[in-house]
Amino acid sequence: MKKEIICVVGARPNFTKIAPIIAAINSHSRNITPFLLHTGQHYDEAMKASFFDQLGIPEPDVDLEVGSGSHAVQTADVMKRFEPILDERNPAAILVVGDVNSTIACALVAVKKDVRVIHVEAGLRSYDRKMPEEVNRVLTDQISDLLFTTEKSAQDNLSKEGVSLDRVRFVGNVMIDTLLKNVKNAVPLEDTLRGVENIDRFLSGDFGLITMHRPSNVDNESILALLVDTLVELSGQLPMLFPVHPRTLGQLEKFGLKNKLNDSGITLLPPLGYLNLLGLMAKSKVVLTDSGGIQEETTALGVPCITLRENTERPITVGEGTNTIVGTDAEKIKSTFYDILKTGGKAGCVPELWDGKTSERIVEILDKWI
Ligand code: UD1
Repeated sequence: MKKEIICVVGARPNFTKIAPIIAAINSHSRNITPFLLHTGQHYDEAMKASFFDQLGIPEPDVDLEVGSGSHAVQTADVMKRFEPILDERNPAAILVVGDVNSTIACALVAVKKDVRVIHVEAGLRSYDRKMPEEVNRVLTDQISDLLFTTEKSAQDNLSKEGVSLDRVRFVGNVMIDTLLKNVKNAVPLEDTLRGVENIDRFLSGDFGLITMHRPSNVDNESILALLVDTLVELSGQLPMLFPVHPRTLGQLEKFGLKNKLNDSGITLLPPLGYLNLLGLMAKSKVVLTDSGGIQEETTALGVPCITLRENTERPITVGEGTNTIVGTDAEKIKSTFYDILKTGGKAGCVPELWDGKTSERIVEILDKWI
């Protein structure tokens, strides 16, 4: 009989990681069956449902419906609601992905019940403990039994933290499985931008794309104001599209910065589905972002990326890919941007094992390990 693994998702970046794993278990596994649990950390149509639909993720077997809250409330609610499900299902293991609050919350419940934990996208480190995700990464890796990594630097990070390398497997990047499978099906620009004013200036591909949602950028008024001023200035050179995360929208309104954006070359959009954003990303001249996943996706697509953070936990995107880290230094953002417009930016190459087959490798390993 097949053994059950509870596969956990919670927030938007988890969905692109779990989709190919569930598909590969269902199509290739001899020994495992998945039980999909959504914590409900992200719940809106735009933040959740459109991803499930577009990526063909099955309806979750359970939705814990925790919703938004402070870190303590959100993490505690996931833990409290996850425990009875774990007792009832009594799985052979749980599988968590990425670094969101749902990841550490479920891993912590499982380890205390002596249920084995599998962590996909282990070992990434920004070495910035002010980032909530960094705390989630370090702690999840410490309590995981099997750790799948996307790049070689992850192994060194884990080794330094005393994680035995017997538990670590370098398999590549599941998010790139999703990207390679879906890039042909990306929603065309004209469909995503239907109803946008002056749509023609974007259809030629002469535009930049902005995404921004990290608390370190959007929760601090002076940093957000500096970023807005800088982006507004750059949009005088190249029109930009900016799908706005709900956290960011709230902060722009709170600090009275939204009007500046409305009066610029930046077009604000609601949060987009995966295939819609992929369509924009693949066509854009440059992407300015503070997302972790987008640094990797632009590297896989060969699109220049400017990362509006002081560090990255994904250094291969800088060493081998198309990414440049600029922090929130206005001069650095501008000079990197103008350099990309002039030269086309770093050519980059696609990192080892980012080949669309990572989920299959994971399932092969799991079939033996379980
Ligand atoms: C979370 C993750 C972050 C990830 C990001 C992607 C943590 C610590 N952070 O941050 O790593 O990059 O997701 O989006 O887990 N909201 C909605 N609708 C939703 C969900 C959230 O409107 O469906 C709003 C709420 O006002 C909420 C705010 O967004 O308070 C923040 O949501 P939350 O899940 O707490 O954190 P994110 O900033 O989304």
